[in-house]
Amino acid sequence: MDGCSGVGAPVEHDDPGSEHREYGARQPTVALTRRAPASGFAALLERRPRHATLPAVAQRAPSQHFANPRHHRTPPSMSRTFLMCPPEYFDVAYVINPWMQGNMRNIDNRLAKKQWRGLYDLIQRQARVRLMHPEPSSPDMVFTANAGLVLEKNFIVSRFRHLERQSEEPYFSEWFLEHGYQVSNGPPDVHFEGAGDALFDRGLPVLWLAHGHRSMMGAQSFIATHITALANIEIVTLELVDARFYHLDTCFCPLEGGALLYYPKAFSEASLASIEARVPEKKRIVCGAEDAEAFACNAVNIGKTVIVNSATPSFIAALAWHGYRVEQNPLSEFMKAGGSAKCLTLDIT
Ligand code: ARG
Repeated sequence: MDGCSGVGAPVEHDDPGSEHREYGARQPTVALTRRAPASGFAALLERRPRHATLPAVAQRAPSQHFANPRHHRTPPSMSRTFLMCPPEYFDVAYVINPWMQGNMRNIDNRLAKKQWRGLYDLIQRQARVRLMHPEPSSPDMVFTANAGLVLEKNFIVSRFRHLERQSEEPYFSEWFLEHGYQVSNGPPDVHFEGAGDALFDRGLPVLWLAHGHRSMMGAQSFIATHITALANIEIVTLELVDARFYHLDTCFCPLEGGALLYYPKAFSEASLASIEARVPEKKRIVCGAEDAEAFACNAVNIGKTVIVNSATPSFIAALAWHGYRVEQNPLSEFMKAGGSAKCLTLDIT
């Protein structure tokens, strides 16, 4: 596996496993020594590192649109909020999943920015978007789904399995602390990759929690400690068995209204039985191999809209039959890193 060298200047930060961030701490102290954090896109514009060029999103955006997040065009009635991170430093700088294999330094960053901007625009039509500052040392930070798990004003920060992504943990902690969340995390040796592997159902009081590739089974106990205190939610563990679908959100997408879009072949038999025992057949939308391999399950769902990288006519028809409208936004550059639409967002509603 390739190392993380040459990704950018190292950024000084605390060891993610340091005593500042103990298991179960309700308000951990994260003593970061780097510069003050950005708190939105306006701050990003002001505080961009000298050596960085602005993401295309910033260069092309009308200034009044971004200058004050309170004045952006999202009507106040829109209730969903997503966290995204511009792809300023996005790259395939190491290989930690099968999609990255053969794609080292093979990103067209201009195209990546255009594709990311397309997704941002689609989401912003229907929801609020908060932006966090990208970091040169963290080329995968654009995949904010992996920041952690959000429940109301509580945030459980991820414990990445791979060293290459562990540098992101303090940045995500910092953002959520700065935005008034109670931040906690699990034991350092229990890997947990946030909303990549933990998804709330949209119909049932269930948190679907995957293990098998990135997050560990052990994540269940500390998540339960936190969320059962907050809500009466059942945690259902699911085992992922195909290395290409290494995060739950690559093959499983609970939709508003309680439908479930998923790719059955990514799950063990026992896990399929768990899904089928809880989600009635009429609510299950089975994704075929072709769409699954284009990450159609890695969808951003807002109301009746389902935003994906690409979809076949049969996928679009199946979603339409269940009352959803598919919007396609090509994300080929992010697929090279093993991510797509949903991975590029974190629902912080
Ligand atoms: N290169 C990233 C990784 O392997 C992609 C993460 C995709 N994120 C997701 N939520 N599926 O960690």
